[in-house]
Amino acid sequence: MKSHARKAQPTASRGRLIAAAVALLAVIASVSVWLAQRDSSADESHSAHLPAANAALAGPQGGNAGALSALDKTFLTKVRQAGLWEMPAGRLAQTHASSEAIKRAGMHLLEGHSKLDQLAREDSEALSVPIPDEATAEQQGWVDQLKDARGKAFDQLFVDLLRASHGKIFITIGEVRATTKNTLIRRLATQTNNTVQDHMDVLEDTGLVTETTLDDVASTIPK
Ligand SMILES: [Fe+2]
Repeated sequence: MKSHARKAQPTASRGRLIAAAVALLAVIASVSVWLAQRDSSADESHSAHLPAANAALAGPQGGNAGALSALDKTFLTKVRQAGLWEMPAGRLAQTHASSEAIKRAGMHLLEGHSKLDQLAREDSEALSVPIPDEATAEQQGWVDQLKDARGKAFDQLFVDLLRASHGKIFITIGEVRATTKNTLIRRLATQTNNTVQDHMDVLEDTGLVTETTLDDVASTIPK
């Protein structure tokens, strides 16, 4: 019995040692998790108190900063009025055009100017620059001409009028985008540039753009 008891004692000790080791590992694991969580929340708290970093991210996208020029204000009006005649023109293309390419161009006009018009109205509000609710008399005259045309005559008139007006505003957009000091106008000029580029592309895809139209656009560039 005595020798049996001596043999049993190391086994019991080993059991206690294993239990202690397991307990120690559990404590180490808990402390590690707690430290990791503490570091993580410290990082979040630290980030939340970095106004300079947040401002730098928000600045180029959404801020309104920088002086407005007379050209900036004119540009806002031009973007608004482009939408006010091109959206009706795009709708007319769906019913009056003979070519699918013209109908497609009309859809691009409708979609592009719906978005651009929304942006122009928001910028007008934010910048306190009033914008008109009507297209110019000349633009309304173009819509009236389109209302009276049908089929192939409509297709050619549509391309002549729209490619000429897009070419002319494209020149103004470059000037505004390159020189404006105002962040909202800069963003609007970028969006307008993309939209007008798209509209020139779909108009050219119809195969109906003439040299006469391009000469007309060229004649408006100041020498
Ligand atoms: Fe357009």
